Amino acid sequence: MTTTGPRTTALTNIGTLVTNDPGLGEGMLGLRHDAAVVFEDGVVAWVGDARDAPAADTAHDLGGRTVLPGFVESHSHLVFAGDRAAEFAARMSGEKYGAGGIRTTIEATRAATDDQLADNVRRLMNESLRSGSTTVECKTGYGQRTRDELRSAEIAGQFTDEVTLLAAHVPPPEYAGRADDYVAMVCDEMIDACAPHAKWIDVFCERGAFNREQAHAVLNAGVARGLIPRVHGNQLGEGPGVRLAVEMGAASVDHVTYVTRADIDALAGSSTVATLLPGADFCTRNKYPDARALLDAGVTVALGADCNPGTSYTTSLPFCIAIAVRDMHMTPDEAVWAATAGGAAALRRTDVGTLGIGARADAVALDAPTHLHLAYRPGVPLVGGVWKDGVRCTPETETV
Ligand code: NIG
Ligand code: FE
Repeated sequence: MTTTGPRTTALTNIGTLVTNDPGLGEGMLGLRHDAAVVFEDGVVAWVGDARDAPAADTAHDLGGRTVLPGFVESHSHLVFAGDRAAEFAARMSGEKYGAGGIRTTIEATRAATDDQLADNVRRLMNESLRSGSTTVECKTGYGQRTRDELRSAEIAGQFTDEVTLLAAHVPPPEYAGRADDYVAMVCDEMIDACAPHAKWIDVFCERGAFNREQAHAVLNAGVARGLIPRVHGNQLGEGPGVRLAVEMGAASVDHVTYVTRADIDALAGSSTVATLLPGADFCTRNKYPDARALLDAGVTVALGADCNPGTSYTTSLPFCIAIAVRDMHMTPDEAVWAATAGGAAALRRTDVGTLGIGARADAVALDAPTHLHLAYRPGVPLVGGVWKDGVRCTPETETV
């Protein structure tokens, strides 16, 4: 993918513009029609009617297409080697998913060179960008020993500022049956070494991974070294993950597939975002999260693709939006918001996930007259143009 771009860029003749700024248009998406946007020095400088658009160094005629903020991918695991296609095929023949499959990827990742791992992250970051994700969080978690978590964090940091240390994903083979000892090592040595290279601390709080006390210890150790907590929880069954995340003031709890009324109430009274990952439920034949119950209770909901080789080998937020609308009963507006502004909320970012004045000039053009087509035309590559920091990214598939 190559990039080129002048100082001011106007996107004109936009059929539907999603701003996510209710001050700029209708409803939660701040929708406008027959609109234009001007980017200047990497930020949104002007939004209005197409007929009033000021002159710019470069103008792109969108021909009635839809423009929306770039998707904000707040949950991905891109630092890994190998794949688990055979595990996926077995699952489709009836095998059940368990956290143990992660160890296969730990082995492959430890054996890979730095260049191989960086190439994998680059490939998947480019794939994400082509499907419209302009901000992508990236987790470690397939090293699970200090030197491999450290290089995973360093490699992720070459591609994004949103690096998450998933220090406790699953106890690695050399700690089999000794999860407490592994957690002690993580809190004592691993987080110290890796914290300078990460922004977030994450833990998989689930049966077969880490229990409440272990997860609490890992998050606390991360907080003590300046990291902000987020939690993988309630993916495979009910458990303490959601309430632990709320108690710790975590930015998000991710998966949230099996929840009780008490979990929903706790989330509703908190600032923790529920990040739903329907790609993982799709690829593991799990049930989907009850997005309606969460939204109706007032919980802030984000959508993530959760790209990883085990449960969700997709980078496509458009795919997740389609599932969220079809199977999780989110409205198209809610799903589009969750994949843009919701992802930004999960990363505590106010500069992305919106095309309000002053926001990052990160935008996606869809080959469609409205954003509804993201759910209405599942599986169709509708992304025809992507701008990041006001600069045109030009995948081979561009149409604008
Ligand atoms: O988000 N839930 C834990 N971690 C990943 C799966 C990792 C794997 O199976 O490799 C997830 O689904
Ligand atoms: Fe995950």
